[in-house]
Amino acid sequence: MFIEKSHFPGILSDIYNVNPYVLIDNLNKSEDVIFDETLNSHLAISYDAVRHILKNHNIYTTKPLAERAEPIMKGKVLAQMEGEEHRIKRHIILQQFTGNILKYYYKPKLIEIFDSLIIDLSGKDKFNFIAELGNKFAILSTFEIIGIDHSQFDWFHVRLKNILKFAIGFNLSEGTQKSSLLSAEELESAILKLIDERKISLKSDIISFILKDSEYNNIINDSDIVALTLNILLAASEPVDKVLANCIYHLYRDKNYTDKLLDGSCSHNLIIQECLRLTPPVHLIPRLIEVDSCIGGVNFRAGELIYSLIPSANRDEKYFISPSVFAPYRSYKSHLSYGAGMHVCIGAQFANMQLSIALEKLVPIINSYVEAEPPKFDGVYTRGAIEYYLKRV
Ligand code: HEM
Repeated sequence: MFIEKSHFPGILSDIYNVNPYVLIDNLNKSEDVIFDETLNSHLAISYDAVRHILKNHNIYTTKPLAERAEPIMKGKVLAQMEGEEHRIKRHIILQQFTGNILKYYYKPKLIEIFDSLIIDLSGKDKFNFIAELGNKFAILSTFEIIGIDHSQFDWFHVRLKNILKFAIGFNLSEGTQKSSLLSAEELESAILKLIDERKISLKSDIISFILKDSEYNNIINDSDIVALTLNILLAASEPVDKVLANCIYHLYRDKNYTDKLLDGSCSHNLIIQECLRLTPPVHLIPRLIEVDSCIGGVNFRAGELIYSLIPSANRDEKYFISPSVFAPYRSYKSHLSYGAGMHVCIGAQFANMQLSIALEKLVPIINSYVEAEPPKFDGVYTRGAIEYYLKRV
């Protein structure tokens, strides 16, 4: 497909959803920011512009989340908070996702979850990588953080999918909105019940951690815990299966790297970070322009919306040589797939560990399977395989 440089049909055009990367590779990143008619908003396309926007949170604020996230999270999510409130709450949560807690508490649990999912699949000649492995692994891992029993997978899965439509959809019908809001209410009740249970008997999950420390009681009330819990549930379960599927997708297309992983000459992390760069799961990050400003000669007025297009920043030739090539050994590796600045992903270490555990287990068996058909990709706000069938050779 030949597309004239700089002619961009828009994020919400049909052609974009079919293969955004062809269009993104054609964007002239030195323009920094273009106007997207379909979104009726600015679109930041260069690495410098995206990093500048994400790091300047006083000019480019997370206020759009009030519409997208607050109604379904039943309160303010971390990404909406600013100043002291953000700093304190982020610190409280971050303590649960780093260092020794990750290594000694979560790692064995995640290994156990992944092993049991692989055992479930061992009798099958064909399976859907997304529904039967990646998505289950992502959600059940998140259940460990929140303290949700694995037997409740189906109940939560349906409702999470429903609220996700609200968070990442465009032009939603009234029916979809209503159903998302109903699911949000049901999730809120379930989490409030969990909080009440933990008030009687503390466990090792994040809700117990917050409740245990009376110092936090003045800072975080029950409705904050609900919002934080839903925030983590959604943020943690949505992108991870997409990255994992992308890792397998790239490894099937470049078999050299499977051999290198097997003989130890390439690390799992190099593959994961390159997958994140080339095919990030989060494509769009919205911000409200708070004051009149300017990037690369483009003037903005206060009140306008600007979206950062992460895959475009990650494919900016100014930073990445041959940006559309899967090259895990590339010298500049600092992709923006986890965001940047004060709202940079809080779960990045956790996600990297999840992905590493999964990849370590998958690489030795990957050659026993082939793609039954190429994966089906979908999504413009977040993007990934929605169906990916593998079959035994
Ligand atoms: C590969 C997996 C993941 C990717 C690509 C990803 C991506 C992102 C991005 C791009 C942001 C910034 C959003 C913004 O600036 O508006 C973000 C924020 C966030 N992520 Fe992740 N995420 C991942 C996994 C996780 C996990 C596993 C968790 C929780 C355990 C998590 C929790 C959060 C939270 C709470 C925020 C908001 C942080 C704040 O505002 O201070 N994410 N993530």
